[in-house]
Amino acid sequence: MNALSSVKLIDGKACAARVLVEVREQVHALREHGTQPGLAVVLVGTDAASQVYVRNKVLRANEVGIRSLEHRLPAATRQTELLSLIARLNEDPQVHGILVQLPLPAHIDEHRVLQAVSPLKDVDGFHSENVGGLAQGREVLTPCTPSGCMRLLREACGELRGKHAVVVGRSNIVGKPMAALLLQADCTVTTVHSRSRDLPALCRQADILVAAVGKPRLIGADWLKPGAVVIDVGINRIDEDGRSRLVGDVDFAAALPQVAGITPVPGGVGPMTIAYLMKNTLLAFALQQQATRQERTPCPSPC
Ligand code: GUN
Repeated sequence: MNALSSVKLIDGKACAARVLVEVREQVHALREHGTQPGLAVVLVGTDAASQVYVRNKVLRANEVGIRSLEHRLPAATRQTELLSLIARLNEDPQVHGILVQLPLPAHIDEHRVLQAVSPLKDVDGFHSENVGGLAQGREVLTPCTPSGCMRLLREACGELRGKHAVVVGRSNIVGKPMAALLLQADCTVTTVHSRSRDLPALCRQADILVAAVGKPRLIGADWLKPGAVVIDVGINRIDEDGRSRLVGDVDFAAALPQVAGITPVPGGVGPMTIAYLMKNTLLAFALQQQATRQERTPCPSPC
């Protein structure tokens, strides 16, 4: 957060730019040693939002010096074809990260596809091996959006230990891994969702509120404890005053006077997701180097 207390904006764009500088420097050092991390992005179908996300991911990868490989497949692609592509990418030594953009067309079993990605190349952190590893507090690849939110929170709040964090939403992509990361940071964590009783009262307990429900401006000022830090993951397109605009799950204008810090939409969490995809690609590269070294190390005798 800006040092001026009147400026409560948690600037995800600026923070993402700092993360990308770190990644670019590390990629540069690797390239000086003749290696280059590679990221394969797989898009099935023509979903408009997914096309924008994939384009931005590939652009960002190129900017930081990560080799990006884009695989665009028609919406009618059979599951077996997609699984064979993933098997090839798993074996490709130039590919260190594999991202299958979601949602997939309805005829494809999303779980089956995500489980086919090698856990060491799973830059989304969606494979059950990585989901389990996160729950156990092991160093594994963790989902990009929650990881980016944690960085914003660490910069905005400093020490997170003992804070009461309320996560609104229980998706596999954001809500559940977010709760696990906050728990790992020694927060007291409450996850609330559409079936929770008295959502506003539960949210008012939060020192840290993470909103990830996809409902435009659901959370008003009366849902927030004064002085709370708010991370708004929602990116909702609405029509207002005759124009289309993006808004979060939190009523930003109403919340601002009451909070200690809040992420704007756009320019908050969105840029952090892509920055952490790049960071995860570097981590995947490192994990694979480590695994290769372990394979090569001879077993102390007698084995
Ligand atoms: N679709 C929306 N968010 C995500 C994400 O974080 N990863 C992937 N693979 N697809 C998405």
